[in-house]
Amino acid sequence: MTTPFTPRQWSSRFAFLMAAIGSAVGLGNVWRFPYLAGENGGGAFILIYAATTLAIALPILISEIMLGRMGKQSPINAMRALIARHKAARIWMLIGWGGVAGAFIVLSYYSVIGGWALKYIELALTGAFSGETEAAAANHFTNFVADSGALMIWQTLFLALTVGIVAAGVTGGIERAVVLLMPLLFILLAAMAIYATTMPGFGAAMKFMFAFDFSEVTPDTVLAAIGQGFFSVSIALGAMMTYGAYLDEDVSIGMSAIVIALADTVVAVLAGIAIFPLVFSYGLEPSSGPGLTFITLPIAFGTIGNGAVIGGAFFILLSVAAVTSAISLLEPIVAWIEEGVRLSRKWLAVIVGAAAWVAGLGTVFSFNRWADFHPMARFGVMEKMTVFDVLDFTTANLIMPTVGLLIALFAGWVLSGPVVEAALGAGGKAWFPWWRFALRFIAPLGVVSIFAANVLM
Ligand code: PFF
Repeated sequence: MTTPFTPRQWSSRFAFLMAAIGSAVGLGNVWRFPYLAGENGGGAFILIYAATTLAIALPILISEIMLGRMGKQSPINAMRALIARHKAARIWMLIGWGGVAGAFIVLSYYSVIGGWALKYIELALTGAFSGETEAAAANHFTNFVADSGALMIWQTLFLALTVGIVAAGVTGGIERAVVLLMPLLFILLAAMAIYATTMPGFGAAMKFMFAFDFSEVTPDTVLAAIGQGFFSVSIALGAMMTYGAYLDEDVSIGMSAIVIALADTVVAVLAGIAIFPLVFSYGLEPSSGPGLTFITLPIAFGTIGNGAVIGGAFFILLSVAAVTSAISLLEPIVAWIEEGVRLSRKWLAVIVGAAAWVAGLGTVFSFNRWADFHPMARFGVMEKMTVFDVLDFTTANLIMPTVGLLIALFAGWVLSGPVVEAALGAGGKAWFPWWRFALRFIAPLGVVSIFAANVLM
């Protein structure tokens, strides 16, 4: 069979790893993990996170990359091929459809927040935070998000970067970008973390993040850890499946997945080491999400010496992390359409990007015109949510766990032991039975418990 499009294959294991780590390392690592750890028992949370990631997210990550490499196409067509080959039921197509639909939704809102990170590079470098008080920083941010036109400009810029990289192809675009950007991200992060050790609030920050406090650990802590692990290692949105489709047969998926999950966790912990000393040195309140990133940190950047440089470095780091995740959300969609339509990748990337831009307006308006619009007002848990909150909630709590569960069940129960052993090249490997056990029993149980908790709460 001749492929109608340029070949899609990583040119090295390193390129694949950089792309996959680029996908995993994103906003989730920088603005969610450190705070979750601080609030949920510090070292105890980090330990629980490591355990749930090892037992649940990692086995699913291995499976997702494996399904991609077995199917060798976009998630939708890979699942179609696997279902035919293994005479499985059509319902498993949900893995492909759910993943690609979820990727589109996440891309739509991720681009808006990614745009904020870009805007804040400009603000930091031009010294806009200098001498800023808490009230001024909060005002700055509130005024920015109240301006839908400004949000649209930065969302457009962020999507244009993402589209440009994906349009240039797997090797010519994604690979070229990640082998450059990921090392840059590591250098910036390491430099910031080292600098943070010299700050007066370093001790307090380390206590906040690492002190073992088992009294803070509840069943909710475990659920939060599972959920964070899912989002953070990028499973269940077709991204890793697509990247797996471009992977050589002789690369060990087991080893690669361990490297990806480990790098992702190291970055999350380092982000905390880099961020919280700033927060504690200036007597600020640790928080998470937009508040931490776009209000609390700018206050610190406005006070420290060389704040423009350090703040600029931080927002460049954040933007790099977001762009390399966004390309992994756009690629599965472009790959899928590319397989069925005679249009160049360039045009497809632009068209899908434009569609994500339009869908992203729901998120843009959630912070201004539609701030009081609650689309799910009739649904208990979603009652008070804006469009953005609903999109975030449904992808993180519904689509990702469902697709993740289906991946675990498909790879664990539908595909036979010998088939997956061959697909992973895991013949005689000691970890193989452990992986299969975790996949068949522990991962499904973990996911079902997230569901049960969400429905019951
Ligand atoms: N892992 C990314 C983060 O931590 O921000 C988010 C993400 C990207 C999730 C790509 C899923 C995905 F397919």
